[in-house]
Amino acid sequence: MSGKVYLVGAGPGDPELLTLRALKLLGLADTIVCDRLVGPSVLQYANPQAQFHDVGKIPGCRQHQQDEINQLLLTLARSRQRIVRLKGGDPFIFGRGGEELLFLVQHGIEVEVVPGITAATGCAAAVGIPLTHRGVAASVRFITGHLRDSDGLELDWRSLVDPTCTLVFYMAVSNAATIVEALIAHGRPADTPAALIHAGTMAEQDCAVVTLQEVPGMIDVFAPPTLLVIGEVVRLYSSPAKRALEQAGPTVPHSFNPPLSCPTELA
Ligand SMILES: C[S@@+](CC[C@H](N)C(=O)[O-])C[C@H]1O[C@@H](n2cnc3c(N)ncnc32)[C@H](O)[C@@H]1O
Repeated sequence: MSGKVYLVGAGPGDPELLTLRALKLLGLADTIVCDRLVGPSVLQYANPQAQFHDVGKIPGCRQHQQDEINQLLLTLARSRQRIVRLKGGDPFIFGRGGEELLFLVQHGIEVEVVPGITAATGCAAAVGIPLTHRGVAASVRFITGHLRDSDGLELDWRSLVDPTCTLVFYMAVSNAATIVEALIAHGRPADTPAALIHAGTMAEQDCAVVTLQEVPGMIDVFAPPTLLVIGEVVRLYSSPAKRALEQAGPTVPHSFNPPLSCPTELA
């Protein structure tokens, strides 16, 4: 009998943004396979008896390759019962969750996917930037700033210059200059507002609002994880809504208490 693998989104960092399903599975897991981007305060809700595997991938370092992770999940599924594959944000948004799902299903392993709040929505909410806004942005694009094996960043740049579309770049730190140059060359105004959000929803959260052309000069100050949001909605950052959020203070990552009656079995 094989066990079951749960591909679980841990959200952007603040454990209060975990889904109830994720919280329940963390507490009941016998094995946890964890990514680097999972907020450390999320792990305090993990079953302390669970076997823990850290397969974090650091940008630019080899670390664990995806094939090795797939193989590890398969091996674990054949010997353990409840394997939680914990990923930052949402497993299906630039999380390679699709690859793990396909691999496991092809090998006859039962898989459940538990969505998480992706960095774009989590970070934007945390700093008070609405990604769409009536009369300002009618659509939003989630884009990777880093393609496979550091291939050239071949994006459809012309489709990214619509001023009513907010752009959210994940993994954009190392290619920020290329991204900015290409967007401006294809017609996005150089003074389009842009926000760099570091460690959104976490205690060390930081946000800078600049113009598009200023992004490359700022990016070195921002270590990963950093999200790049480009578009007119960024002007709303200095709105009364942002001030109200600041007055309310940050969400309190460490004060979260798990449900009083912890579930003991899965539905
Ligand atoms: C490999 S992608 C994983 C995305 C994840 N699956 C999600 O749905 O958010 C990693 C990138 O997500 C962004 N990211 C994730 N968490 C973040 C956070 N708390 N603050 C800022 N950026 C974050 C960064 O751009 C980072 O380089």
